[in-house]
Amino acid sequence: MLRDIDFTKKVTVLTGDRPTGPLHLGHYVGSIRERIRLQEAGAECFVMVADAQAYTDNIENTRKVAEAIPQVVADYIGCGIDPDRTTVFLQSAVPELAELTMLYMNFTSVSRLERNPTIREETRQRGYEMVMPSGFLCYPIAQAADITGFRATHVPVGEDQLPMIELAQETAAKVNRAAARDILPEPVAVLSTTGRLPGIDGKAKASKSLGNAIHLLDSDAEIERKVMMMYTDPDHLTVAMPGKTEGNVVFAYLDAFHEDRDEVAALKDHYTRGGLGDVKLKKLLVRTLVELVGPIRERRERVIADPKGIEAVLRKGSAAARERVAAVMNDVRSGLGIYRLA
Ligand code: TRP
Repeated sequence: MLRDIDFTKKVTVLTGDRPTGPLHLGHYVGSIRERIRLQEAGAECFVMVADAQAYTDNIENTRKVAEAIPQVVADYIGCGIDPDRTTVFLQSAVPELAELTMLYMNFTSVSRLERNPTIREETRQRGYEMVMPSGFLCYPIAQAADITGFRATHVPVGEDQLPMIELAQETAAKVNRAAARDILPEPVAVLSTTGRLPGIDGKAKASKSLGNAIHLLDSDAEIERKVMMMYTDPDHLTVAMPGKTEGNVVFAYLDAFHEDRDEVAALKDHYTRGGLGDVKLKKLLVRTLVELVGPIRERRERVIADPKGIEAVLRKGSAAARERVAAVMNDVRSGLGIYRLA
């Protein structure tokens, strides 16, 4: 959380998203909102469109990734990431990250990668038990390179990314030990104040592939349609009946997005006592979400209408990112005593 961060020391933030489609409210509460807070707090910020990582499980969908890249940039800018203050760049346009990844592969065993809980979960989801792309197994190493390559101190991410941050910490520590001096900071995760956002169907996670998320590009009518479909308490059959707030998606979203905490607390109380209907609550949530998403959607539409502008943002950001990672990698190489052809 932001209040745990000591801003008297230099704070460098790196984070990113795989471009596999437009982003949704889960991304927004999980990480993007924290990035914007960090940007506003004056941290040095790098935000990456992680296309190289997207290929680790999408090599047969390269076109989908290509199409999603400008969408994700539009989502970022729509949400308030300001390319004049945050370096927004494309992972594959920074080849130094791939070089650093290759070097880091020597610091991590295959069994260490196979133990990574997020990799294990994703292996199951993708059916990679028998045949796994080696790039997929190694993406946590690439992620350690993404993070340490910028000397990032803070990484705003969702909880599922904690094993990746741990590997980045370990890698930084190994490099520092091998070099016998502190070349790389050990990065820490910045978790969002709200936990994981459930899907509108009540499933544990809002996700594009499950089709249960509200996207930052959804129209007001689409938001309303999705909210009206939201899973609530299946035993709450009449307005008069007491209802459960736990596992109730409408309350999970009100918790995440409605700014008046006291009002949410009073509504929960009322709902638990009975006498508060789902439709009334859903209408409040529609208003809350339309107020949040409307301006984001309008900004992102203006960005999408200007593909050259998007390219310019990525080109400028990626050039700056290259310089940064090249300098860090030079320090890593010399710290490790690696021969370099002059
Ligand atoms: N793994 C992240 C995701 O799935 C994307 C990512 C790549 C990332 N490199 C990163 C996140 C470095 C934080 C830091 O969305």
